[in-house]
Amino acid sequence: MSATIVIFGASGDLTQRKLIPALFNLCRKRRLPAHVRIVGVARTKHTDQSFLGILREGALKFSGGGWDEDDWTHFARRVHYFPGDASRSEDMGALKNYLAEMENGDANRLYYLSTAPNLYIPITANLGAHGMAAEAEGWRRVIIEKPIGYDLKTALELNDSVHRSFSEPQVYRIDHYLGKETAQNIMFLRFANTIFEPVWNRNYVEYVQVTVAESVDVGTRGDYYDHAGVLRDMFQNHLLQLLALVAMEPPPSFDADKVRNETVKVLNSIRPVPLQDTVRAQYRGYRETPGVAPDSQTPTYAALKLHVDNWRWQGVPFYLRSGKALSRKDSEIVIRFRRPPHLMFELPPGGEFEPNTLSICIQPDEGIHLKFEAKIPDSLRETRSVDMEFHYRDSFKESIIPEAYERLLMDALNGDASLFVRSDGVEVSWRLIDPILRGWESPEAPPLALYERGEWGPLEADELLARDGHKWRHGCGEHE
Ligand code: BG6
Repeated sequence: MSATIVIFGASGDLTQRKLIPALFNLCRKRRLPAHVRIVGVARTKHTDQSFLGILREGALKFSGGGWDEDDWTHFARRVHYFPGDASRSEDMGALKNYLAEMENGDANRLYYLSTAPNLYIPITANLGAHGMAAEAEGWRRVIIEKPIGYDLKTALELNDSVHRSFSEPQVYRIDHYLGKETAQNIMFLRFANTIFEPVWNRNYVEYVQVTVAESVDVGTRGDYYDHAGVLRDMFQNHLLQLLALVAMEPPPSFDADKVRNETVKVLNSIRPVPLQDTVRAQYRGYRETPGVAPDSQTPTYAALKLHVDNWRWQGVPFYLRSGKALSRKDSEIVIRFRRPPHLMFELPPGGEFEPNTLSICIQPDEGIHLKFEAKIPDSLRETRSVDMEFHYRDSFKESIIPEAYERLLMDALNGDASLFVRSDGVEVSWRLIDPILRGWESPEAPPLALYERGEWGPLEADELLARDGHKWRHGCGEHE
């Protein structure tokens, strides 16, 4: 049966930078089934041709790899444009007729909400009201981009409203971090090997760090960002999902619900975070960004200390940090193991004994590093840390790491929701983040720290760890 991908908000940035480049790549890799067509919907007046002109520019810039005009021509035949306001009933009615005529019989449909978030409810309601979520003539699925809600209350409202038109198995909530190869590999590292899982617990792990550092600043997104801030933008979704992959129990299979049951279970085990275990900061110069209030209190950086209250992780702190305008782009997870129970070695002068550290490098230099101690040759009893490294670029030379959206779009077409967030997954992460957001607006809030661009964030974040005798670590690539 043929399938139509209907992209709402098709004239926006995401379509040009991510969605079309991903679909184009899938098409040129011969992964996108021949029967899939793409319909862009937005209010802007375009013809198919003028729309394709814009998409071509995006594909040229963002699809990576060599460019072959024939590949583009082949792909472009599948793409159409429908001008209209999908939050208006008449326009949705017209879109319904347009799609029916194009599909000419039964066809599956994947709706992609890539609009401003305030349109998610009206568009899904409209799809429901026009019978466009009903599955009599093929499956109907809807992909929802982040942000899924602004806080717990609005997330619940969005979930409820979407459920009035679509049942939960029809809904695919994107967290593009779950589509990253390196994030998916966390489950493989843990569960396709026998050597890690036995030590993956409180008996051997001293602490876990999750860092998602960005060198870019807020750029042209001041308007959105100043209302969101780093907790909504990065923690509620990406960082908590990474934490869940590291901390969850092994699911019995890759079945979407079995994986997501484990994700929700572990997120549910996180203890509410006291404000003294949070740091909020803003880079200097942020307030001069267009769209940002001159006295903005919005944090562009945060660090949190979390505890997972279950048998596996009792007493093991999880330190999470993320920020903009930092020293470099670096997303990594560090598992720091405990010191051996008894040391009979000598340290080199000024040296420090380094317990084993496993670093999972999510990006940009994708790979895994295991640091362990080795005897310094020709010394008597001195040790030094050495690094056992795995780099995707060396081990998998033949395959370029695909963009997260390629994998996620194919999964949604194939009906595999394991890398998408279920409604209870969204809710549980908001239950954790919401009280912090409210606390940060209360008189007990920690002061908003300032940090310089191009550095590693505020001193307060170092102090958060220093209280426990720890420090932030970089196990991937360049060191601090
Ligand atoms: C998005 C955030 O979800 O993720 C952005 O809204 C952020 O602010 C981006 O820059 C980071 O994604 P990536 O894939 O570049 O690490």
